[in-house]
This record gives sequence, C-alpha cells and structure tokens, in this order.
Amino acid sequence: MEKIIDESQQGKSLVLEQKTENTRKLFIESYGCAMNFSDSEIVAAILLKEGYNTTQTLEEADLVLVNTCSIRDKAEQTVRKRLEKYNAVKRINPKMKVGVLGCMAERLKSKLLDEEKIVDLVVGPDAYKDLPNLLAEVEDGRDAINVLLSKDETYGDISPVRLNTNGVSAYVSITRGCDNMCTFCVVPFTRGRERSRDPQSILEEVNDLWSKGYKEITLLGQNVDSYLWYGGGLKKDFEKASDIQKATAVNFSKLLELCAKAQPKMRIRFSTSNPQDLTLDVIETMARYKNICDHIHLPVQSGSNRILKEMNRLHTREEYFELIDNIRRILPTCSISQDMISGFPTETEADHQDTLSLMEYVKYNFGYMFTYSERPGTLAERKMEDDVPEEIKKRRLDDIVQLQRQHSEIRTKAYLNTTVEVLIERESKKSDKEWSGRTSQNIVAVFPKAHYKIGDLVNVNITDCTSATLIGEAIDYAVN
Ligand code: SAH
Ligand code: F3S
Repeated sequence: MEKIIDESQQGKSLVLEQKTENTRKLFIESYGCAMNFSDSEIVAAILLKEGYNTTQTLEEADLVLVNTCSIRDKAEQTVRKRLEKYNAVKRINPKMKVGVLGCMAERLKSKLLDEEKIVDLVVGPDAYKDLPNLLAEVEDGRDAINVLLSKDETYGDISPVRLNTNGVSAYVSITRGCDNMCTFCVVPFTRGRERSRDPQSILEEVNDLWSKGYKEITLLGQNVDSYLWYGGGLKKDFEKASDIQKATAVNFSKLLELCAKAQPKMRIRFSTSNPQDLTLDVIETMARYKNICDHIHLPVQSGSNRILKEMNRLHTREEYFELIDNIRRILPTCSISQDMISGFPTETEADHQDTLSLMEYVKYNFGYMFTYSERPGTLAERKMEDDVPEEIKKRRLDDIVQLQRQHSEIRTKAYLNTTVEVLIERESKKSDKEWSGRTSQNIVAVFPKAHYKIGDLVNVNITDCTSATLIGEAIDYAVN
C-alpha cells in the first residue's frame, strides 16, 4: 500500500477543520501505508476536542506526533531521522512534546523511550482514544505509553478530520489488523488481529463525504476482501457467532454493493486485496456497478510456488492465474497492479525466473517492488536465514522493475486515441496550466485546464503518454 500515497504528501498536513477556541498546536505527520494516513485523521479528530488545532509549521508546535511504519527497515530509519530533526527544534522550543504513533510504537514499545530520549509519548494503533489521558501524564512530566492491541476497536464512532485533503478523494477505513500471517510481514504483530467496522458507520461516513463534496473514496484495510461484520468482534471468532449473526453477516462484496448504491455517483476504490481472499462475488459486484472503479491492487509477492508457500501465501501460481483470467473475463477493462518482493530467503534464480514469467502472463499496469527486508519477530526471521546477498536482491529487483516498466508502457499505450473518464484531483506537478487526475483504472492523466475545475469528472481524449502517465485534452463533462 505504501507508494499509493503520493510522495509529495508525505509529512505534510494541511487542514480545513480548526476550532477558534483551541489554543494548542499539533504538528502531525505520517509515513508508510494509507492506513497510517487515515489513522492520523482519527488522531487529529480526537485531539481537536482536546484543544489542539493542526499546524504545518513544526517550529510552532506544542505537540509533534509522527505516525510510523515498520514494514521495512528503511521505513524505520526514515522515522529515526525525523526524530533527529524534532530534537533540533526542541532545543529552541523545549516545551514541545514528541509522540510516536503507529507500527514502530507497537513494535518497539518502551524501548523507543529508552532509545530515543526525545520521545515523551508512545501510542500503538489501537490506543488512540487513550491520547487525552496519556497527554495529561506527559504534561505532568512523565513519559506515557499505551501499546495495548484491541479485539474490537475500529474507531467507527470517530469522524476523521481530513488532513492533506484535496476535497475530492478520501480514505474510509473498513477493517483493522490482519490474520494472514505472511511470514515476511510485521503487520499482524503491530496491528493485531483482524476486525471489521460496522457497515452502518461506514455508510454514514460515505454519505457525509458526498455531502461535503468528495467524489471518490478508497475503502481501506490490510486485507479488505476478508471484511466481515457480524455485530462486532474478531474475524477469527466468527465461528462462535449465533445463527442470526451468521445469517445477517455482511461480507466485502455486500459492503461494496451497499456503498455503491448509497452514493451512485461516488467513485469507489478499495485496497488491498490478498489474492487468497478475493472472491468471484467481489469481481461480479464490481461489474454490476459503474461507480466501483476498474482497478484491483492484487499483490502476489513472488511467482514461485515454493516461495509462495514459504511466505505462507495461501494460493499457488496456477490459482493466481485463474483469478487473473476471471478478472479479465468479467471485467475486461480492469487494471491490475502488484507488490513484489525480491530475495526472500532461499529464493533461487529459478524462483526469480518464475516471478518474471508470472509478470509476463499478467502484464500488470503498475506495481510496487521491494527487496526483502528481514523484520524482527516475523516467522521468516525466526525460522529462515536471510541468505540472499544484498547485491543479488537488488539485481533481481532491477529485473522486476525493468520488466514492469515495459508492461506499464504497453498498458499505457493501449489508451492512445481513446477517450477516458478522469476525475480532476489537483494541478499537475509539471505545469500550473494543467490538471492532473486519475482514470477509473487508477492511471494518472494530465491535460490543459480549460474551464474545468478540481472535482469535475471529464472525458479526456488521450493523444500521448509516458510509461506511467496519460496526456490528452478534455472534451466535455462525463455523465455518470
Ligand atoms: N496487505 C497489505 C500489505 C501491507 S505491506 C496491504 O494492504 O497492502 C505492503 C507491501 O510491502 C507488501 O505487499 C509487500 O510487498 C511489502 N512488504 C511487506 N513486508 C515486507 C518485507 N519484510 N520486506 C520487503 N517488503 C515487504
Ligand atoms: Fe502483511 Fe500478508 Fe497481512 S502482507 S498485512 S500479513 S496479508
């Protein structure tokens, strides 16, 4: 999920909702996945009630919070660097308090307080409602920590304060935690067991966003397709639910349908789908509703059956192909994107070739590709040696990235001389005379502004492209 965040947004916090009576200033920044960005909006909402307005100026903050990522070692190093920066500011403004939120807080717990003297506050992903109490402790001069994971916290009752917003697209979180236990992944340890949010509160949020002018939502979860609401509680306890609870349970395809029907003009996206949980039902629901976008992010990590097994991904390469064939049959215009890991323990050259040949079969529209980073406490770290040398991991990653670039180019070129629907999101980074937006397939398109404005859905004739971006001209408003 990581790079789905536009990198220019990392760190920034532009906020619309402020309270004039609030006197304290919160500087909050987020790293890592979309869920972290979404969580920071919940934290900002909790602290708005506690007297904090957000600021974009670090130097004037009373409280600095950093929402952190542990997915790879590099992500943690980025946060450590930010802490150094805060330290420099704290020398000028000694009253400033610093808190670490999110996955690093959960992974390192009180070690963070010992290792990083600047940190006053450590709060895990399920403990944000405790922030007011924890801040009171900090104000009394004590370090404060809450890293308890929860069985039922979904923050469904909190209306997020939208940060970094363009007023057009917003995240709506629907599940928390993950039960999949992929052997390389730290998320099940930092975000706990999987639980789903009440569909009613999801629909209320979607309706509220529409009434505020938003045009696109992304339903968020580590593993959205395993969404299951049966009245609350952990996904793994569903077996123990009553017959009535089972009969009235809402799964992901049902939730998608509820959202699509509630706001038929709202564009609906979702992320992320684990192949083992994406059902035909979901694909068919996507086909039934035009406002559900034509894109599936379907991380596979490796094309080798042996490696998939070592990763505890519960599907084979052949089953993945079958899923891809079903998507292509039911949703012929759907784009598909990937996440890949090169150099997982024991990966051989033949395994790597399997990854490349899988990519050849799918020809993804785009992808997010990483070298394996061993994470403390994961099953892979405990049971396997990180035995692929760094330079081999990097070379294999290069192969994967090169091949993806070729495929992206083929996919992007296929849109030349066609008309696509684009939701205008922002000014193009390259020119203040052009708009930038995305197609239903999640491909970026840029075109001259003409008389159109942010939030408009327009038909764009595609006349040119780079490997990742469509270039064209808007011809009129799209009717949806
Ligand atoms: N299901 C999640 C996956 C979160 S992690 C989601 O919603 O996206 C995002 C991606 O990071 C994974 O798909 C995987 O490709 C990569 N990743 C996770 N752990 C990693 C590790 N230890 N080393 C390298 N990449 C990793
Ligand atoms: Fe991680 Fe696998 Fe869950 S990648 S977030 S354990 S689906």
